[in-house]
Amino acid sequence: MSTFDEILPNLTKIFYLFQEDVTKMKPILVNRDLNGRVRLIVDEKWEDDESQQIALDNIAQKIQEELGSHAYPAQQAVLFEPDIDDFLKRESCFQLEGASDVFVIDRLAVESNWSHISSLRLSVPRTVFFSIKGGVGRSTALAATAWALAEQGKKVLVLDLDLESPGLSSALLPEDRRPSYGITDWLVEDLVDNGDAVFEHMVATSALSHNGEILVVPAHGANPGEYIAKLGRVWMPKIDGDGKRHSWSDRLCRLLGALEARWKPDVTLIDSRAGIDEVASACITELSASTILLFAVDGDQTWSGYRMLFKHWRKTGVVRDIRERLQIVGAMIPEVGTEDYVEGLLERAWDIFSEELYDEVPAGKVSGEEGVWSYDQSDESAPHYPWVVKWHRSFAVLKSLHGRLKGIDHEMVRVLFGPLIAGVELSIETDGGSQ
Ligand SMILES: Nc1ncnc2c1ncn2[C@@H]1O[C@H](COP(=O)(O)OP(=O)(O)O)[C@@H](O)[C@H]1O
Ligand SMILES: [Mg+2]
Repeated sequence: MSTFDEILPNLTKIFYLFQEDVTKMKPILVNRDLNGRVRLIVDEKWEDDESQQIALDNIAQKIQEELGSHAYPAQQAVLFEPDIDDFLKRESCFQLEGASDVFVIDRLAVESNWSHISSLRLSVPRTVFFSIKGGVGRSTALAATAWALAEQGKKVLVLDLDLESPGLSSALLPEDRRPSYGITDWLVEDLVDNGDAVFEHMVATSALSHNGEILVVPAHGANPGEYIAKLGRVWMPKIDGDGKRHSWSDRLCRLLGALEARWKPDVTLIDSRAGIDEVASACITELSASTILLFAVDGDQTWSGYRMLFKHWRKTGVVRDIRERLQIVGAMIPEVGTEDYVEGLLERAWDIFSEELYDEVPAGKVSGEEGVWSYDQSDESAPHYPWVVKWHRSFAVLKSLHGRLKGIDHEMVRVLFGPLIAGVELSIETDGGSQ
C-alpha cells in the first residue's frame, strides 16, 4: 500500500517514464488535494488531441496503480484549464523533484505552508525569535535584547505573537502599565473593519530602560476579556467589500506595517510561537524578517524539528530565499560542562546546515567564495555557529521576570546574553545600512 510520503517520489518516477509526453504538454500540474489525493491539470488544448489523450490516460492509469488511495480514479484524474500558464502564475506551487516541467500545487487545511517567503522589507529591520520547543528562554532573551538595544538609545518595538502562551509583555511591563488592548484584539476588530478602535491603545512603553524606548505590543490587554473566544477568531481570513480575501497573515503584516509607521522604531523584535505551527510559519516566512533566530537546546526534538523545516524549504524550492536570514542561538547553556555542551551544539547545527542548507563546495573553490553559500564548521560568522545565551540560576526560579529585569545590570546582561545582543546589533546595522 502506498502512503502519503511516497506520492512525490512515485510521481517523479512516473513522469520520468513519460518524459516525451511531459515535454510536449508542459507545464503539467499535480494537484494534491486536502485529503492528499492527486490529480493532474493540463492545458485545454490537449483535450481534443487524440495522441495526447492516450498518453494522459496511460499516465493516469499508472498514477492510479502506483499511488492507490492517494490517486483519483484514472477516468477522473485529469482536469483541463483554458490558460495553463496564467493558472500556474496564480497558484502557489513548487517544482516536482526530478521533473522540471511538473509543478505541485499542495492544498493544506491550514493557511500557512512555510514556503511563501516574503521579500525583505527594508524600512525597519525585523528580527524574529523562534524555537522548536517552548520554555527555552526565548521570551526572556528577547526582553534582555530589547533592554540592551534601548540602553544604547534605540527605539525598539516588540511584539508578542506567542498568542497561545503570551509571556513577553509580562517580562517588560508591570501590571499597571499594560495597555488596554493587544494584538488579539486588533485582529478580531479588523474582521469587522473596527481595528482603529484599538490601534492607539495596544502599545505601552516599558520603564526598564531610560535611554531609548521599548514599545511593547502585547498579545492581549490589561484585561484579557474573552480571550479564548477572541483567540478562536484571530486566524480568520477577511473578505473585504470588493470580495478580496485577506489571509490572517496578510492582516498581521498590515498591522505590523501600521505599527511601524505610527511608532517609527529603529528595530522590531517579534516573539513567535514555538514549534511547527501556523503562527510560527507566518512569523518566519511572511513578515519579511531580515533575521530569524532559531533557538536551540541540544536534543533530538530540536534538531529533528529544524531538519524537517529545512527539508521542506528545499523541497518547495524556497531555500535560497530564506537561508541567509537564519541564525542558530544556543539557549540556556549550562554553567557546568559549558564548552563540551557548546561544542556538541555546534556539531549538530553544522550537520543539518551543511546537509540541508549549504551549497556543496566544488573542488577548487572555498566556502564563502562568490556564488558558493557555505561555511566551514569552525567559522564563527556562520549561521550555524551558535550565539550563546547562558543559563543562570537567578532566572531559573522566578515569580516575576519583570521584577528580575528591573534589577538587572549591564554586566549581567553582557555575561548571559552578550553574543546574542552583539549579533542582533550587527544585523540591525547591516540592514539599516541598506535602507
Ligand atoms: N537564561 C536563563 N537561565 C535560567 N532560566 C531562564 C533563562 N531564561 C529564561 N529562564 C526561565 O525559564 C523559563 C522559561 O523562560 P521563557 O523566556 O518564558 O521561555 P520561552 O519563551 O522559550 O517559553 C522562565 O521561568 C524563565 O525565568
Ligand atoms: Mg515565550
